[in-house]
Amino acid sequence: MDKYTWDALDYEKSSSVQQMWARELIAKLDLKGDERVLDIGCGDGKITAEIAAKLKNGTVVGIDSSYEMIQLAQARHAKGDLANILFSEHDARRLPFHNEFDVVFSNAALHWVKDHLSVLQGIARSLCRGGIMLLQMGGGKYNAVDLVKAFDQLIEIPLWRDYFNDFAFPYYFYGPDDYYPLLSEVGFIVKRVELIPKDMVHDIPGFKSWVQTTWLPYTQRVPESVREQFLQQVIDEYLNRHPPDDEGMTHLGMLRLEIEASKP
Ligand SMILES: C[S@@+](CC[C@H](N)C(=O)[O-])C[C@H]1O[C@@H](n2cnc3c(N)ncnc32)[C@H](O)[C@@H]1O
Repeated sequence: MDKYTWDALDYEKSSSVQQMWARELIAKLDLKGDERVLDIGCGDGKITAEIAAKLKNGTVVGIDSSYEMIQLAQARHAKGDLANILFSEHDARRLPFHNEFDVVFSNAALHWVKDHLSVLQGIARSLCRGGIMLLQMGGGKYNAVDLVKAFDQLIEIPLWRDYFNDFAFPYYFYGPDDYYPLLSEVGFIVKRVELIPKDMVHDIPGFKSWVQTTWLPYTQRVPESVREQFLQQVIDEYLNRHPPDDEGMTHLGMLRLEIEASKP
């Protein structure tokens, strides 16, 4: 199973940290306002809309492989004041664009994709000469490792074990050593490939919502009737080992792989 059913409304409400990190990433683009931008794995489209708002004379296309996400993105952001935004359902591994974009952007999406060579080849086709890409995704061996450990503990116990018989780790947390050869194979000019540590901070309900919304490969294994119980147990397991701070906020150590490169 590598296609998950996203609850787009839930994601819209439970992704404030992704939004904050996306804003930092958008700032690094230093947009002039006339660029044509492609946003890969645009999700519910709110980040794409923030990019559109910076493009007075430019355009942005958001693509995502989730029908549910694209439907919500269109309903929320493609019919209002912003005439320079389009959404379309596509898989990042099969981008259908040719020399159409000045900038390719992606936030918090590509760790869901195994085959990054296809993604990078598609990005190279999509970009004009001199075009740039800025990608950020979960990366590195230790990304979210403490939460992964909490899940690992839980899926071994008899109550849950049977749902995880043929389970394989579902995310692709690549690092610079995986990425440099791919970039060179596709022929990008590399500016930087970095692993950036981040402290992910939520209040307890926010942490639970984020886990519920984005750790689908685990939660969707369990029947709906007991999903809440499973979710609560993983949250308890995590918080027992990593209690909230004095302000009641949860912390999770994350690593983001960030790549900046251009097409010759
Ligand atoms: C965590 S959301 C990120 C959404 C948005 N970029 C943000 O920063 O809020 C990850 C998104 O990646 C999308 N995704 C996963 N695999 C994909 C693929 N192969 N092609 C395109 N999108 C994909 C999912 O459907 C989901 O909407």
